[in-house]
Amino acid sequence: MDRNINLPAHVGIIMDGNGRWAKSRSMPRDFGHKQGAKALEKISKYADEIGILHMSVYAFSTENWNRPKKEVDGLMNLLRNYLKRNIKDAKKDNIRVCVIGDRRGLPQDIQELIIRLEDTTKEKDGMQLNIALNYGGRDEIIRSIKEMAKDIENKKISTSDINEDLFINYLDTANIPDPDLIIRTSGEERLSNFLTWQSAYSEFYFTDCLWPDFDKAEFDKAIEVYQNRDRRFGQV
Ligand code: IPE
Ligand code: IPE
Ligand code: MG
Repeated sequence: MDRNINLPAHVGIIMDGNGRWAKSRSMPRDFGHKQGAKALEKISKYADEIGILHMSVYAFSTENWNRPKKEVDGLMNLLRNYLKRNIKDAKKDNIRVCVIGDRRGLPQDIQELIIRLEDTTKEKDGMQLNIALNYGGRDEIIRSIKEMAKDIENKKISTSDINEDLFINYLDTANIPDPDLIIRTSGEERLSNFLTWQSAYSEFYFTDCLWPDFDKAEFDKAIEVYQNRDRRFGQV
């Protein structure tokens, strides 16, 4: 992988396959999630190091609440630990962390930890890591429409102002460029409600590799495939 040619500015990752990774080792699903969190820390450091400007990772979807309570509780605990550790270690690296998704649906203490992590890292000038939590693309679009409708009611904007350029300011990803490349691990080939609006022109890369096994070499492979794609945006 050549770092100097055509690096995607924004990489999205659907980190899938933690459960199957654990199952193949006769371990509980929680163990897979724990290893998955480790993979995330390694890949985000690496992505920053090679010069990726934005990385968005799908960590918990609006649909994931339908999992057994024990698994959801385990994931929330893992998230607590991840946030605390990263608040503590923020000095060590240069990554700016932002959360996308409806954070109001998360436990109160987690919402506070998110604000602390975002605050502690907001001056960092390395990669921006967007963590999608209680995120659903359709939910994001509906929330954005509601905010836009409020602005119409309050006469801040009028219906005739609505266009794509205006609308994107209401999305969780306002000020974040669209993902150039979306990676999904574990062999599934679907978006599962990730970045629905923003992925209109993304390149997709699917790999059978399960998320806890996804390492620098796998990331390089995905970037290389992207670098060889011919992006046309409707042109010849
Ligand atoms: C992805 O791994 C992590 C989350 C969705 C939180 P999965 O838990 O979906 O793992 P599989 O797909 O069951 O293997
Ligand atoms: C998508 O994975 C969500 C995350 C990776 C957080 P899922 O495993 O939840 O998606 P489906 O259910 O296979 O579509
Ligand atoms: Mg899955």
